[in-house]
Amino acid sequence: MLNKTALISGASRGLGRHIAREFTLHGFNTLLCARDTEVLRELTDELNELDPGDSIALPIDFHKPPTLKDIEEAVPRQWPPISVLINNAGYYNPSPLKDLDLKEFRKHMEVNCEGPFLLMKQLLPAMAERREGFVCNILAGGAVKTAVDHSAFNASKFALRGLTRSLAREFQHRRIHMTGLVIDGEIDSPKKRKQYPERNPETFLDPASIAREILHLYQQPPDAWSLEMDLRPHRAFQD
Ligand SMILES: NC(=O)c1ccc[n+]([C@@H]2O[C@H](COP(=O)([O-])OP(=O)(O)OC[C@H]3O[C@@H](n4cnc5c(N)ncnc54)[C@H](OP(=O)(O)O)[C@@H]3O)[C@@H](O)[C@H]2O)c1
Repeated sequence: MLNKTALISGASRGLGRHIAREFTLHGFNTLLCARDTEVLRELTDELNELDPGDSIALPIDFHKPPTLKDIEEAVPRQWPPISVLINNAGYYNPSPLKDLDLKEFRKHMEVNCEGPFLLMKQLLPAMAERREGFVCNILAGGAVKTAVDHSAFNASKFALRGLTRSLAREFQHRRIHMTGLVIDGEIDSPKKRKQYPERNPETFLDPASIAREILHLYQQPPDAWSLEMDLRPHRAFQD
């Protein structure tokens, strides 16, 4: 066991499950967050069978975000304080402006930007005090380039990118490595394969590979930190 504690948001599905697995298998104690409590409990049971790290579920909904006390109370007493935060939870529902109401716009902001902001606001002071921390904010191609019908998603991920780059500068001298991971492409999943049966699988990113790259970012030495990294599959969708 590494004796480090990581909080991973959006751990119930998709990429988050792979990050949870990668970090737990590498000895982290992992606090797995999302709304779906049942799925989280199944995942923690599965991970706790594997060792070497331990895993627990922390149900959170960014519509009613947790307080620092909620988070601290969820961390088992024998675990060290949280030193790794992976803001992976995301919301994506493209629509043209005529169909985009304020509620839907806010939902993108709430999950993709305000949630990560709140977790950073709550966890960074203690990390900075201990001079130990790694924060990875999961971005998307939509954090650096725009697309038709993606205004709410683009706004929320551009905002998260700005937040990441600014806070990285604010906290780097307190030995906090904050980084943004631009996932420039679509992540492979059974749902995507079903949605695009004709598509060449090589045009997807494998979520297990992405999770490994996040661990590599964590392992970077303090004299060579990435402020941002982007990942794309070797074959573009249009090839
Ligand atoms: N999928 C892609 O092709 C792709 C491409 C580029 C970037 N990304 C980014 O990669 C990250 C993961 O994407 P994904 O496709 O793997 O995600 P996903 O399968 O859609 O899962 C989203 C996760 O976020 C959680 N979540 C959603 N709303 C929440 C809320 N209100 N409060 C708390 N948790 C909430 C979900 O859990 P519950 O439903 O249990 O709450 C789930 O665990 C996202 O940040 C996404 O923008 C994805």
